[in-house]
Amino acid sequence: MLLQNQIAIITGAGSGMGRAMALSFANEGATVAVADINIEAAAETVSLIQAKNGMAIAIGVDVSNAQSVKKLINTVAEREGKIDIIINCAGLPQAFTPIEDLEEEQWDRLLNVNTKSVFLTAKYAVPFMKKQKQGVILSISSIASERARPGLNAYCASKGAVAVLTKALAIELAPFGIRVNAINPGPTNTEMLGKFIPDHEGELEQQKQEVFISSIPLGKLIEPEDIAQSALYLCSPLSEKVTGTILNVDGGRGI
Ligand SMILES: NC(=O)c1ccc[n+]([C@@H]2O[C@H](COP(=O)([O-])OP(=O)(O)OC[C@H]3O[C@@H](n4cnc5c(N)ncnc54)[C@H](O)[C@@H]3O)[C@@H](O)[C@H]2O)c1
Repeated sequence: MLLQNQIAIITGAGSGMGRAMALSFANEGATVAVADINIEAAAETVSLIQAKNGMAIAIGVDVSNAQSVKKLINTVAEREGKIDIIINCAGLPQAFTPIEDLEEEQWDRLLNVNTKSVFLTAKYAVPFMKKQKQGVILSISSIASERARPGLNAYCASKGAVAVLTKALAIELAPFGIRVNAINPGPTNTEMLGKFIPDHEGELEQQKQEVFISSIPLGKLIEPEDIAQSALYLCSPLSEKVTGTILNVDGGRGI
C-alpha cells in the first residue's frame, strides 16, 4: 500500500474528484479527513470508505473562512498527531458571464473559495509539516488556468493564481521537505461540469458532447478516478523528487 499510516485531509471530498481521491487514498492505507461544506455529502463519502474497511472521518469546513480552516487543521492534528497530506479540491464553477456583468460579490466568492483556500490551508498546516520535516500539498487547479475560455474570467483568474502559488510555495517549503504540486484537470465528469455550460438547456449529455468532448483531443471526458490516480502519484513516495509541478490531466485539451 502506497499511503500506509499517512494522514490526509481532502477538501471538497463530499463529491466528484474529491470523493474519488478520498476512496483511492483510503484504499492505499491512508486515514482520510473528508472535509466539505456539505457535511451530509462528507458523511456519505466516509460511509463508502468504511464499507471497504477504510479509515475516514467527516469534518464540516468552509475553505474560504480562516477560522473554519484553522479548526479543521487543528482537529485533525490533535486527533491523529500529524498531517502528512493536504489536498485542496473544494471549488466553485462559473457560468459564462461577460466581464461587464460580473458582480464584485461573485468575483470575491470565486477567488475566496478557489484561491484564498489554498493560502489558508497552507498557513495553518505548514507549521505541523515543518515540525515533521515532511509533508505534501496538492491543489486542484484547472486547465482553464492555461487555456482561458470566454466568460470564465474570474474562474480562470482564480485557478491561474493557484498554479503560481503552487510554485511559490514549492520553492519556499522545499528546505523543510514539504512538496507542493497541482493538477490541471480538463473537463471532468462530475456535478460541476454542467455548471460551466452556457445557457444550460436541453439534454446535459448532448451538451457535454458538443461543448466538451469535441474539444478533447483524446476524445473522452476525464473521469474523477483519472484525477485520483494522478493525485496518488503526486502524494506518494512514487514522486518523492517532484515539487512545483503542474500536471495536466486533460486529454490534451490544453495543447
Ligand atoms: N469538473 C470539471 O470539469 C473541473 C475541471 C477542472 C477543474 N475542476 C476543479 O476540480 C475541483 C473539484 O471539482 P468537482 O468537479 O469534483 O466538483 P464537485 O462540485 O463535484 O465537488 C466540489 C465539492 O466542493 C465542495 N465545496 C464547495 N464550496 C466549498 C467551501 N466553501 N468549503 C468546502 N467545500 C466546498 C462542494 O460541497 C463539493 O462537494 C474544483 O476545485 C474544480 O474547480 C473541475
